[in-house]
Amino acid sequence: MSHIPVLIEEVLEFLNPARGGIYVDCTFGAGGYSKRILETGADKLIAIDRDANVLPTAEKFREEYGSKFEFHNIANDKIGLALEKLQGTIDGIVYDIGVSSMQIDTPERGFSFQVDGPLDMRMDQRDTISAYDVVNTYTQGELARIIYEYGDEQRSRSIAKEIVDARGEKPIETTLKLVRIIQKAVGYYRDDINPATRTFQAIRIEVNKELDQLKTSLYAAKSLLKVGGRLVVVSFHSGEDKIVKSLFNEWCGKKVNTNKYLPDPNLHPAPPQFKFLQKGIVIAEDNEIKTNPRARSARLRAIEKLI
Ligand SMILES: C[S@@+](CC[C@H](N)C(=O)[O-])C[C@H]1O[C@@H](n2cnc3c(N)ncnc32)[C@H](O)[C@@H]1O
Repeated sequence: MSHIPVLIEEVLEFLNPARGGIYVDCTFGAGGYSKRILETGADKLIAIDRDANVLPTAEKFREEYGSKFEFHNIANDKIGLALEKLQGTIDGIVYDIGVSSMQIDTPERGFSFQVDGPLDMRMDQRDTISAYDVVNTYTQGELARIIYEYGDEQRSRSIAKEIVDARGEKPIETTLKLVRIIQKAVGYYRDDINPATRTFQAIRIEVNKELDQLKTSLYAAKSLLKVGGRLVVVSFHSGEDKIVKSLFNEWCGKKVNTNKYLPDPNLHPAPPQFKFLQKGIVIAEDNEIKTNPRARSARLRAIEKLI
């Protein structure tokens, strides 16, 4: 199945490429966002993706858009360095974080718990740690923590124990083998969600260091933007959204008092560097969710640089 861009109309509304200028798409994928940004009026679109499998799509964009399009096959935590010369000049930066339909639908990549494949899950084949390494070498405690924190999985400890018991007999090599181990630990279907969903998500986030990537990348994006430049993030996981929310709150001058014994941090606020473009999050409408189930857990946040 081809990748359907999520919340694309809302992304365009906040980025506002109709005003022209330079935009960065930090998660190019199938180019759904990039295409619309270019066609809505951007003078230039710089696309980033760590997955070399998107290179043929990037090549097509180069043929179609010429020097208006530029592609970097890097992880987006490197944008500060890669785009160093453009500091303070970018009009808009967008993220559509997570995994693409092309990645999920290619069994050899090992992202899917529905078809058999090797335990890989690396978005970038140059990375050295794969899902195989996480599953077969992490301690039981590390596995339980990852599955709990990145998968929001209440039964993380039972799953971790079952994994460690199983690999004691023989290394776990395939996705469906791992699914059977998880099913043994948690029982079969709860609601209509496959019990492997959360654990697979957790292992993928760990393999690709997705939360660290996001944090580093957002700091870099902050300084690449010019005054009036806009930052738009679509995320699908509570851990990601927590990072986006807390950085955006901080940059917009909204401090949260985490210690009731300390003075209210909002009493003497530093001037905000950004302003919110909307209150809270934007989520997909029912119509979009009906045609694209992936939109169900999408949350969009957007801010504009002030100084
Ligand atoms: C959800 S897809 C993006 C889809 C795109 N918005 C579209 O409309 O076609 C996410 C893409 O971002 C890439 N990606 C995820 N995390 C990344 C990171 N930290 N650095 C660079 N690329 C990343 C993935 O390889 C994947 O191709």
